Amino acid sequence: MILVTGATGHVGGELVRRLAAAAHPVRAMTRRPAEARFPAGVETVYGDADDPASLDAAFAGAEAAFLMSAQGVGTAPGPTHDLALAAAAARAGLRRLVKLSVLDGGAGSDVIARWHAEAEAAVTDPSRDWTWTLLRPGRFMSNALQWAGQIRAGDEVSVPFADRPAASIDPADVAEIAALALTTDEHAGAAYELSGPESLTPADELAVLGKTLDRDLHLRPVPDDAARTGMTRYGFPPEVVDAIMQRTLESDRGAEVLATVEKVLGRRPRTFTEWAGAHVSAFGG
Ligand SMILES: NC(=O)c1ccc[n+]([C@@H]2O[C@H](COP(=O)([O-])OP(=O)(O)OC[C@H]3O[C@@H](n4cnc5c(N)ncnc54)[C@H](OP(=O)(O)O)[C@@H]3O)[C@@H](O)[C@H]2O)c1
Repeated sequence: MILVTGATGHVGGELVRRLAAAAHPVRAMTRRPAEARFPAGVETVYGDADDPASLDAAFAGAEAAFLMSAQGVGTAPGPTHDLALAAAAARAGLRRLVKLSVLDGGAGSDVIARWHAEAEAAVTDPSRDWTWTLLRPGRFMSNALQWAGQIRAGDEVSVPFADRPAASIDPADVAEIAALALTTDEHAGAAYELSGPESLTPADELAVLGKTLDRDLHLRPVPDDAARTGMTRYGFPPEVVDAIMQRTLESDRGAEVLATVEKVLGRRPRTFTEWAGAHVSAFGG
C-alpha cells in the first residue's frame, strides 16, 4: 500500500491519479475525506499532521509514502508537521519515503533554509529503516492559479515580483517522478533539484495565459514594498518576509533550467503553455 499525504493538493492529486491508473494500491490522506474525490479503487483516509493519532491510523499497513507538508515556515518554532509525518512513518515501519521539499533543500542559513534542513533531516535520518528520495522543485506553475479569481472577474491582474524569472515546473512532472521513486528502487538516496523547461517571469506566464484564453489580460505590477506589507498582513513573521524578499529579489537560482526531469523521465518537462492549456477551466476558459 502506498500512502499519499497532501492527496488533494497539486502534486498529491496528480500522484494519486497516476498510481491508481497504474493499478498500484493507493491510500489518499486528507482532513476532509467526505469532500475529497479520488479515482475508483483509491482508499481514502482521514489524516491531520496536527493530530498524531490520526497519522497512526493513516500510515498503518503502508509500505511506502509520499510526504508533503503545507505548514508555513515560521508558523511554529520548527517544521512540526514534517517531524510528525516522519515519526508516524517510523512507528508504522514504512520501508520507502518520498518527500516533497523545495529547491536547494536546507542550503543556506536563513529561517527558510533552517526549516527545510530540519524537515529533510527527519526523512534522511540514517538510523531509520526506510530508503528515501527528496524532490526539490522550484516554483510551481500552479502558483498562477492565484490569479484565477482576478482573471475570471476581469482583465486586470495584480502581480507581485512580475519581472522575477523562474523556471517553474508543472506539479504533474513532480508527481510523475514521485510515482517512479515510490514504485521502483532506482531513486533511493537521490535528492532531485527540479525545474521546468524554460525561465519565464510572472509577466511572461500571464501573457501565455492571455493567449491560451484568447483574452487581453493586463498586468498591474505590485510594488515590492506593497508585496512585503501584504505578506506581513497575511501573518508571515518578519524574518520569513525578509528571507522571501531576499530570495526573490537577490537570487536567480530558481531561474536556472535544470536537466533533472529529462534525465529521470526521459522526456522534456511540460511547458507553461501546456500547463495553461490543461487548466483553462480554472480561469473561466
Ligand atoms: N508552490 C510552489 O511554488 C512550491 C515550490 C516548491 C515546493 N513547494 C512545496 O510543495 C508543497 C505544496 O504542495 P502542493 O502545491 O501539492 O499542495 P497544495 O496544493 O497547496 O495542497 C496542500 C495540501 O496540504 C494538505 N494539508 C493542509 N494542511 C494539512 C494538515 N494539517 N495535515 C495534513 N495535510 C494537510 C491539504 O490536504 P487537505 O486539505 O485535503 O487535508 C492539501 O492536500 C509545500 O510543501 C511547498 O513547500 C511548493
